[in-house]
Amino acid sequence: MARWPASESCARRRHQGFRALQSVRGAGVVCLGLVLGSAAPAGEPPTALKFLRHTQATGELRLSELREMPAARTIRVFEPYEEREVAFHAVPLPDVLDAAYSSSWREEEELLFTCLDGYQPGIPVARVLAHSAWLAFGRADQDDFAVWKHESGRRQWIPLAPLYLVWENLSNAQLRDDGDYGWPYQLTAIDLVRTRDRFPNMLPPEGASRRAQAGFREFRAHCSRCHRINGDGGTIGQELNDPVSPLDYRDSDWLARWISDPRAVNPETRMPPLNLALADRERVIRDILEYLETMAAARPEPRGSRPDGR
Ligand code: HEC
Repeated sequence: MARWPASESCARRRHQGFRALQSVRGAGVVCLGLVLGSAAPAGEPPTALKFLRHTQATGELRLSELREMPAARTIRVFEPYEEREVAFHAVPLPDVLDAAYSSSWREEEELLFTCLDGYQPGIPVARVLAHSAWLAFGRADQDDFAVWKHESGRRQWIPLAPLYLVWENLSNAQLRDDGDYGWPYQLTAIDLVRTRDRFPNMLPPEGASRRAQAGFREFRAHCSRCHRINGDGGTIGQELNDPVSPLDYRDSDWLARWISDPRAVNPETRMPPLNLALADRERVIRDILEYLETMAAARPEPRGSRPDGR
């Protein structure tokens, strides 16, 4: 099975990866062929988007075909790297997925994207169904398909080709709040994957309560891009189970308040509130806490507390 990266935090890791890519580019990129496929000469973006299902290749769509799709349009979004409104030429992601997989992708759990540098961010299918995602293939306001990215006081010109995942976020506070999460660029492939294949250590144990199972799905949708459970997940926030669960040092009322509105507890925090648009936030928080409790109870005993001291 393919190895998944430990982190889902798109911007950080893929940015490092991009730098690495730039530095090897001049040196004649040999290994990139593995990611790009054979059609693209080294250094040129590939001319087709590849599709896989559970790591098996199922087909590809030429970019020239993608640009000609009837739903292609110019859309305006708040671009998170330039931090301003930008117009892109784009096609709706669901139309592309329908063309590649028929409607069956809607029953899957996650979309795993592959970027030019091999970085693989995952996005829950539920997020694509809940919001308007587009695959951009050009900028409408300039010829270069690239954005300025500000980092540590420096501006970097980031090429986006062949494709950039963008979201209609101009009137969607939740998406705006999520910043650059879900905006991977230089996309070359899409795979449909199962959470249990990608994050086996995040799964609740067999026999876990229905509420804990539901909490796991909510945790996957709202928390795991920043937090790890037993080493699986993102690295923006801390590991939340092994060796320390927040339930070891906080009570559940405090945690419920924290998840609902972290800035009310600590105005400096980088953690966003749980999606304010959810209809049943209290239930979702209860289920997530039940999941965290179940995972804490199923932890392997800490070293040293075993009778034989191992
Ligand atoms: C965008 C990233 C991000 C998301 C999404 C996120 N967190 Fe966090 N979380 C953080 C960061 C960063 C911290 C570290 C503390 C800080 O910055 O204040 C943190 C801290 C925590 C803590 C420790 C609080 C303490 O002081 O003991 C818990 C528990 C937690 N998060 C749970 C969750 C849960 C549950 C979810 C999903 C509902 C979630 N987080 C979603 C980034 C995130």
